[in-house]
Amino acid sequence: MNTAITLSTLKAMRERGEKIAALTCYDASFARVLDAAGVEVLLVGDSLGMVIQGHPSTLPVKLAEMSYHTRCVAAGASRAFIIADLSFGSYQPSCERAFASAARLMVAGAHMVKLEGGAVMADTVDFLTRRGIPVCAHIGLLPQSVNQLGGYKVQGRGEAAATQILADARALETAGARLLVLESVPAALARQVTLSVAIPTIGIGAGVDCSGQVLVLYDVVGLYSRPPKFSKNFLAETGSIEGAVRAYVEAVKSTVFPAAEHSFYS
Ligand code: KIV
Repeated sequence: MNTAITLSTLKAMRERGEKIAALTCYDASFARVLDAAGVEVLLVGDSLGMVIQGHPSTLPVKLAEMSYHTRCVAAGASRAFIIADLSFGSYQPSCERAFASAARLMVAGAHMVKLEGGAVMADTVDFLTRRGIPVCAHIGLLPQSVNQLGGYKVQGRGEAAATQILADARALETAGARLLVLESVPAALARQVTLSVAIPTIGIGAGVDCSGQVLVLYDVVGLYSRPPKFSKNFLAETGSIEGAVRAYVEAVKSTVFPAAEHSFYS
């Protein structure tokens, strides 16, 4: 039960159809609770810019802050696989810059880094993975591009947009990405992407057919005032933080979550 979760564990889970439960996590105390509740993946997300720092977006988050929170999470976790977000501006314009930023997060205790973007990031993914840094790619709604996208809107609607997302997923897998986060895309598209790649897909607002699910922890425990439609407050029905996290894990494993009301169908 206490064996450390690795990328091989996550790949094997995908292959045998066992759903992966992931949550964002920003500190050691929550990391202990999530670990004990059986959450396989702790994502030190740059959503901390919104839920911890109170900013309207993830853009102001600094790499040093990501490194600090990664260190905190690593200190509390003993079993879970830790992914840390590369903050806005820290992995462009050069692969060398991306490597230097990713290395800081790995030194802080991450097992993998996550970056946002489609095929345009393939060179960076290739550069990092060839140098020993596993990469989780994040496609669909890209919160770091909120100004370009004109808001937090569902992506991949319509044939051209869906085709682009499928092409992005394949290009990132070919470049070496070992996990794929799919955010705010129609459930049917997320299913198609999942069937088109061999790596595990982790959905958030992407329907029930991904290999796993991730939510922002503060939404799950009802601490954030503007939760998105696709999330769920599990504390409301369980009354404790531990209960909420366990209920989330169970709901993901049994495919009760996400339900239709947490998914997009067009
Ligand atoms: O930063 C974050 O919390 C994320 C999730 C929305 C996947 O990237």
